Amino acid sequence: MKSYIINSNNQIELIEKEIPSIGNQQVLLKMYATSLNFRDLLTVEGSYGGKGSTGTIPLSDGVGVIEKIGSEVKKFQIGERVCPTFMPGWIDGTYTKEKARSALGAGEVQGVLSEYIAIDESALVKVPEYLSNEEAATLPCAAVTAWFSLFVSHQLQPGHIVLLLGTGGVSIFALQLAKTAGATVIITSSNDEKLAQAKKLGADFIINYSKTPDWDEEVLRLTNQNGVDIVVEVGGANTLNKSLNAVKYSGTVSMIGVLTGKESNVTTGKILSKKIKVEGVYVGSRKMFEDMNLAFQQNQIRPQIDKVFSFLEAPQAFEYLKSGKHFGKVVVSISERGQ
Ligand SMILES: NC(=O)c1ccc[n+]([C@@H]2O[C@H](COP(=O)([O-])OP(=O)(O)OC[C@H]3O[C@@H](n4cnc5c(N)ncnc54)[C@H](OP(=O)(O)O)[C@@H]3O)[C@@H](O)[C@H]2O)c1
Repeated sequence: MKSYIINSNNQIELIEKEIPSIGNQQVLLKMYATSLNFRDLLTVEGSYGGKGSTGTIPLSDGVGVIEKIGSEVKKFQIGERVCPTFMPGWIDGTYTKEKARSALGAGEVQGVLSEYIAIDESALVKVPEYLSNEEAATLPCAAVTAWFSLFVSHQLQPGHIVLLLGTGGVSIFALQLAKTAGATVIITSSNDEKLAQAKKLGADFIINYSKTPDWDEEVLRLTNQNGVDIVVEVGGANTLNKSLNAVKYSGTVSMIGVLTGKESNVTTGKILSKKIKVEGVYVGSRKMFEDMNLAFQQNQIRPQIDKVFSFLEAPQAFEYLKSGKHFGKVVVSISERGQ
């Protein structure tokens, strides 16, 4: 079979490998499609979570069909279409160091940019039938992260105001999910065309953060100086202080991303004087993924795919994500359904 690995030059390289054998509680998945997340860029360049990933198959997100099952597999059957979860070790309950270490496609944990993968049945989630392979491949990381942030870390209610930063994978899923819950959405972008696309998806207010560097003040103006109920904070170092300014008293800042870096001088006084809940979010559990799929099914949410690359074009898919030109998700197709 063909797989990509991360090589010592911090690039992805196509190699030939044996199709993996499966354990008694595992299945063999023939992969249909995979999708990229910002973390995959960091992983390939060696700056993700301090882990070296040379020799590892990259990417956490994908969908495939079960071709073989181990002798003790109970829940799944040959022919079912499933996604592996981002952290196979996190089924439900409290998040722990061990669960974090199980995240696919980084460190020594093999990922999904491969024609076949072997994976525990406990790490599988059935995907809604109405989604195409390319759409289903976008769910495990970005969509579950948006779900965790809005509905687990925060309890999003109709009428709440949500602030989203940029128009990448997490933010666009958060936009779609927030609108199904009856929330008002304010979204920022560096690009007016992307903002127009976000409006079509239901965004109520748009702000170009390049033209309006004090976007936090604009958010306060739009909310009668009250601020928003929740910020889905994908920016990190250079956006956090503005997010703390833009959120309301007793609001939530979901700490998700590092798009502008990891180290910053935080105005800690704002956190206590406004009693802001600042909570780290790391993707989510299998249970969250399953709950989220019900919301997708119920609302027929269609993941926003910017571009689909072929398996042989996977290096170009990484370049494209790095360019930041995308709106929503970037996908790599591996094989057609049913082939
Ligand atoms: N903690 C977790 O569980 C978790 C899960 C998923 C992702 N993440 C993190 O969340 C972040 C986003 O991930 P992603 O996969 O959604 O990324 P992505 O799809 O690559 O999105 C990147 C987009 O972010 C926007 N952006 C860049 N700099 C910005 C800034 N200064 N202010 C506002 N927006 C900015 C840009 O949007 P415009 O072009 O519209 O300006 C850019 O296209 C990354 O740091 C990633 O590592 C964390």
